[in-house]
Amino acid sequence: MHCFVTGAAGFIGSHLVEKLLAEGHVVTAYDNLSTGTLTNLDVASSHPNFRFCMGDVLDLSNLRQEMSGADFVFHLAANADVRFGTEHPRRDLEQNTIATWNVLESMRARGVRRIAFSSTGSIYGEPDVFPTPESCPFPRQTSLYGASKLAAEGLITAYCEGFGFQAYIFRFVSILGPRYSHGHVIDFYRQLREHPDRLFVLGNGAQRKSYLYVGDCIRAILKAIRVADDKVNIFNLGSDETCCVDDSIGWICEALKVEPTIEHSGGERGWIGDSPLIRLDCSKIRSIGWMPTLTIRESVRQTIEFLSRESGPNSSTRAVENGLAAARSNGEHSKNLGYIDQNVHLRNTPASR
Ligand SMILES: NC(=O)c1ccc[n+]([C@@H]2O[C@H](COP(=O)([O-])OP(=O)(O)OC[C@H]3O[C@@H](n4cnc5c(N)ncnc54)[C@H](O)[C@@H]3O)[C@@H](O)[C@H]2O)c1
Repeated sequence: MHCFVTGAAGFIGSHLVEKLLAEGHVVTAYDNLSTGTLTNLDVASSHPNFRFCMGDVLDLSNLRQEMSGADFVFHLAANADVRFGTEHPRRDLEQNTIATWNVLESMRARGVRRIAFSSTGSIYGEPDVFPTPESCPFPRQTSLYGASKLAAEGLITAYCEGFGFQAYIFRFVSILGPRYSHGHVIDFYRQLREHPDRLFVLGNGAQRKSYLYVGDCIRAILKAIRVADDKVNIFNLGSDETCCVDDSIGWICEALKVEPTIEHSGGERGWIGDSPLIRLDCSKIRSIGWMPTLTIRESVRQTIEFLSRESGPNSSTRAVENGLAAARSNGEHSKNLGYIDQNVHLRNTPASR
């Protein structure tokens, strides 16, 4: 199968690409490197079935052109951060909703009919039902991110009705593991590297959530695509476990061997759109024979190990790229990234089509 992966240079996308290649698929990776990095694609780039396209999903004509020959689209490119939505009210709409429409239109133009979409548990807002099943009513959105992803889900399901598409929609909890690049674990890690004696925590530390290891997330996606065959297949992806922010802090401090004074900002929510409780009902994905292999505690530990390795003395490329990615996600547009020469970085990139 020829898989077209948007957001392929990101945290989750790069793991997906590696797994698809390992399973014998051909992969076209499409990414504007706004938060992703070429380093994430180091392993993939040496594979003969891999091709990287530096491109923006908002650039419809380029997207349509590059999608030529694809059989299946994995659409992961997005603004993946829930926080800061209200500071940039257009960003989620453009990067998540309009971007998804561009992907769907490109698929339609290219005759590609199958799509997997990385949605989020945030679309449930603050539901009344826990654990929250896929069929739960979610009348009220609490973040622009969740709203934009829900709108994207709506477009995808409408294209299934209108144009005979088949869709796999995955509502992820927070994902952890190697290449992790945004979320509370990295925020706390950075703070503790800078000042190991104190930690500032948004909210009261009692926010209780579920997390999933990235390898388990990828296995679930690929399993669902192999097994489920409805027109629209929607799956919550998480574990039955939850932990609160303060539990997670304990594990992070244990791994880093620090004992900071902890200051909470207070309140049930750390930011607008933060949910005091996220626990998804994952019995549907479990019913097709998947289950997570790592506990949340082990996932946090592996994430910290990765971050520690990456900020070690021998990881200059990654550290520099991370700094650049952070600067870019703070507002610089990807168009300005002319200094990244994909031909230099990617060894086995076949000539562009
Ligand atoms: N990480 C999580 O905990 C989590 C939870 C729920 C949902 N998701 C969803 O999973 C997907 C992947 O998230 P991630 O954590 O890997 O984030 P990420 O930021 O690491 O990856 C996103 C990738 O998309 C690329 N991208 C962004 N805008 C683009 C554009 N306009 N054109 C082309 N490429 C673009 C980025 O450069 C990056 O490589 C996202 O859709 C996110 O919303 C992630």
